[in-house]
Amino acid sequence: MPTPKSPDKMQTGIPEFDLILRGGLPRERLHLLEGSPGTGKTTIAMQFLIQGRDDVGEKGLYVSLSESTSELAASAASHGWSLDGIEVFELVPLEAQLDRQQSILYPAEIELGETMRLVMDRIQALDPDRVVIDSLSELRLLAQDQLRYRRQILALKQFLQERRCTTLVLDDLTNRDGSKDLHSLMHTVISLEQVERSYGAARRRLRIAKMRGATYQSGWHDFAITSGAVLVFPSLIAEEHKTEFEAGEVSSGVKSLDELTGSGLARGTTTMLVGPSGVGKSSLALQYVAEAVRRGEYAAYFSFDETFATLLQRSTALGIDIAEALKEGKLGWERANPSRLSPGEFVWQVRRGVEDRKARVVVIDSLNSYLSTMPEEQALTLQMHELLTYLNNQGVVTILILAQQGIVGDVQNPVDLSFMSDAVVLMRFFEAYGEVRKAISVVKKRSGVHELSIREFRLFPEGMQVGPRLMDFHGILTGVPSYSGSPDPLLRDMTEAN
Ligand SMILES: Nc1ncnc2c1ncn2[C@@H]1O[C@H](COP(=O)(O)OP(=O)(O)O)[C@@H](O)[C@H]1O
Ligand SMILES: [Mg+2]
Repeated sequence: MPTPKSPDKMQTGIPEFDLILRGGLPRERLHLLEGSPGTGKTTIAMQFLIQGRDDVGEKGLYVSLSESTSELAASAASHGWSLDGIEVFELVPLEAQLDRQQSILYPAEIELGETMRLVMDRIQALDPDRVVIDSLSELRLLAQDQLRYRRQILALKQFLQERRCTTLVLDDLTNRDGSKDLHSLMHTVISLEQVERSYGAARRRLRIAKMRGATYQSGWHDFAITSGAVLVFPSLIAEEHKTEFEAGEVSSGVKSLDELTGSGLARGTTTMLVGPSGVGKSSLALQYVAEAVRRGEYAAYFSFDETFATLLQRSTALGIDIAEALKEGKLGWERANPSRLSPGEFVWQVRRGVEDRKARVVVIDSLNSYLSTMPEEQALTLQMHELLTYLNNQGVVTILILAQQGIVGDVQNPVDLSFMSDAVVLMRFFEAYGEVRKAISVVKKRSGVHELSIREFRLFPEGMQVGPRLMDFHGILTGVPSYSGSPDPLLRDMTEAN
């Protein structure tokens, strides 16, 4: 996705961050990046300087009051980045550097004014375009009183502006007694947060708390730090993504199944496949995926639960070659790990499938696992709602898989999300003549008509088969209904049939 370029904005080296900032950070201003230790300030600041060096040949200066040059270089190296050509000015308090010789020593009681002078001298000498000051909390510690501290920072701000520097000031929020320290002096305030979870990777998110005279995307955005990159996932606003699309229904490629759903699944709608584990939900979804590929449309399958190998095996058993389609780029398969993935990242992946690859069919397998990406988060259903609205606005055929708990007996729905979907397909086991078989029925469809009947379905190596309507059920509302009608309409093996 292209980031709008603007002459008075400076790119940060993180494309999706620039998207939220509507082009980047305003030039020649002071921007605050605040967050507790470990939230990613240094990493983002390094990216900012590296982008300047590599993409536009701008000179960068990193003023470090807490970390040594070698510590910084090591953390850059852990990402495969080099700080060559970026000046690191190390000003570490005396007590912290007993065994270091290179850096400029100054006694702890030296006043803030002296430190500021050293910083300004270095800026004067180097004449950088981009400056990082890490961190404000160290300066706060040096200042004896609040007023002098504020005055010194104000002087620094003026000095930087005169020298036309664009500056990122980092603040790790220590020694701050809860005040919104110096926010009023800053052009932009960006907050970083890290939320530890009981299991899985920590969740990071960021928010632009203010940016003077410029638009930006408000609210929290998930982000991640991987080895080699900072990835920001702009939150989704469905209303901003409306497109014209041709209405119509897509076929499953199985005639009797299309009859059951009332000629197919409508574009721009969401269908939920509900049923116990092992009943064939993923296989049914694959059937629509395979048919999309056959029509020449791109389909994207997001799997939290199954490995590609399992899905491949299942598809081969259905007479569909998804490996071939994947290789030819007609199909997207993404494995999502619920203990590592944030909802924001997942939504971003789906958007890439739709906007970049033009996916017309999207499968989310399963909703249960998606919801478990953030068990403590109430906002998740709202976010899901936003995603589905977006997909519907894009004319995508969305298939959600919802696994019910229990296989037989009292089958339970873990969450009631049927209100979010336009159609609900119920799949379950039933008993007939001492055998367990599978039934499929459409229990809700918002657009158009559908059958109210129950049909049998079965996965044969030759493909999926859906039988004629079945009457004579007992216990339809129980976990496993039983069929007591004539055996004739039941599906039989091809071999048996001959
Ligand atoms: N090479 C790396 N690969 C993946 N994650 C990393 C890597 N290096 C650092 N991190 C993550 O980034 C975080 C440190 O970010 P950093 O920018 O130093 O934070 P801050 O400056 O806000 O204290 C750590 O919590 C760590 O999880
Ligand atoms: Mg840091």
